[in-house]
Amino acid sequence: MSHLMQGTRAPWTPDSWRQRPAAQLPVYDDLPALAEAEERLAHSLPLVFAGEIRTLRHQLAEVAAGRAFLLQGGDCAESFADFNERAITDTFRVLLQMAVILTFAAACPVVKVGRMAGQFAKPRSTPTETRNGATLPSYRGDIVNDLDFTPEARRADPRRQLRAYAQSAATLNLLRALAQGGFADLHRVQQWNLDFLRASPQGERYRDLANRISETLAFMRACRLDAATDSQVRQVQFYTSHEALLLGYEQALTQREPATGEWYDGSAHFLWIGERTRQLDGAHVEFARGIANPVGLKLGPTMDPDTLLRLLDTLNPDDQPGRLTLITRMGADKIEIALPPLIRAVQREGRQVVWSCDPMHGNTFEASTGYKTRPFARILDEVRGFFAVHRAEGSIPGGMHFELTGQDVTECLGGAQAITEQGLADRYHTQCDPRLNASQSLELAFLIAETLKDYRRATRENFDATNEDSDS
Ligand code: PEP
Ligand code: CO
Repeated sequence: MSHLMQGTRAPWTPDSWRQRPAAQLPVYDDLPALAEAEERLAHSLPLVFAGEIRTLRHQLAEVAAGRAFLLQGGDCAESFADFNERAITDTFRVLLQMAVILTFAAACPVVKVGRMAGQFAKPRSTPTETRNGATLPSYRGDIVNDLDFTPEARRADPRRQLRAYAQSAATLNLLRALAQGGFADLHRVQQWNLDFLRASPQGERYRDLANRISETLAFMRACRLDAATDSQVRQVQFYTSHEALLLGYEQALTQREPATGEWYDGSAHFLWIGERTRQLDGAHVEFARGIANPVGLKLGPTMDPDTLLRLLDTLNPDDQPGRLTLITRMGADKIEIALPPLIRAVQREGRQVVWSCDPMHGNTFEASTGYKTRPFARILDEVRGFFAVHRAEGSIPGGMHFELTGQDVTECLGGAQAITEQGLADRYHTQCDPRLNASQSLELAFLIAETLKDYRRATRENFDATNEDSDS
């Protein structure tokens, strides 16, 4: 990593972002309390360790090379109120199910990353919100203020950062226990099916796949083949991620690793820069360029190729594979126009990136009933568009980024349950954006697995054909 002079940039330090214009940061009125909270965080333990972060970077390099697939997902925003074992376990379980579907159906290793254990800060389209003539600061996630529409609730309270840290630590502790303590053992693949899913077409389809996996495991055991792969079958590696939005919090948890001299943000394995904070000279890009964690960059339809290349130079000057994941969120109707120029620019410069698809954030609208929602069909269209464009451009569709929950919510329209605009009110629980429910998540995973399998088969055929050509 070059933390030294880079173009006209001054040297990077964990607080060098403070010299830059920062979008989307809350205004705190109690500065001594803010300083105290950041000081306490700076003396707290990192939630993740540098070695794990490096392993993830290597795995993302495999994704960039087309030898693995990235699955990233979880809440739009975690909340203090909805913090319980059940919600965490159910979301983890759905991610495991999706990963198994992708691994088994597409015969491709899956790198699993949760939008969990730290996804608390939200960018907003306006700094204030007006209701019935009253104007208050917008809700910016539980790490900043509260959703209730009262002056006291909407005041930015720095002590919330300590609560978010504590909740992240407890969440991560449970995730580690689930990932390594037996819950995620592939021998239990049948039991991951949620009760309310069992009778649905998705649940049945999953059960068939789980049966085939169980038979395979039994076959391997009979052949005495299981010993060598034991730990891979009995445990999973699960990583955490969130948007690096609240920079004071991120800075406080960033430490230099003495052995390498690299700086690691200990708040999560993977951090991303949002669509609203990716200004080239802004604070968020400045912070992210100095940390050694793998970094994501959200790209909406207004991104242009030149700016993208400059962002690549700033965020990944040494072109390390696995360092940068470009998460496109164009909208189903724009992806086929907006994505190709970006891919071509990256290819022309020979840069190594992971291309991931967020089919959620470009497909949001307000239903006639007033709920913010996303149609399942449009989400699916963007996923299809993503694969089609990458196939046409000869680039690698590396991963998916979803807002989802293991709960049986009614927030996105359609899917096999055919959720209607009227039905949204039944179980609309999100604090922020609408999430896929467990059934919709599995449905999507099966569809992606098929597309990925086709894609891998076609590119392998191309690859074989090219090799045969060069032999002759
Ligand atoms: C998000 O991921 O919740 C988000 C706000 O996305 P984007 O930055 O792409 O709008
Ligand atoms: Co969101």
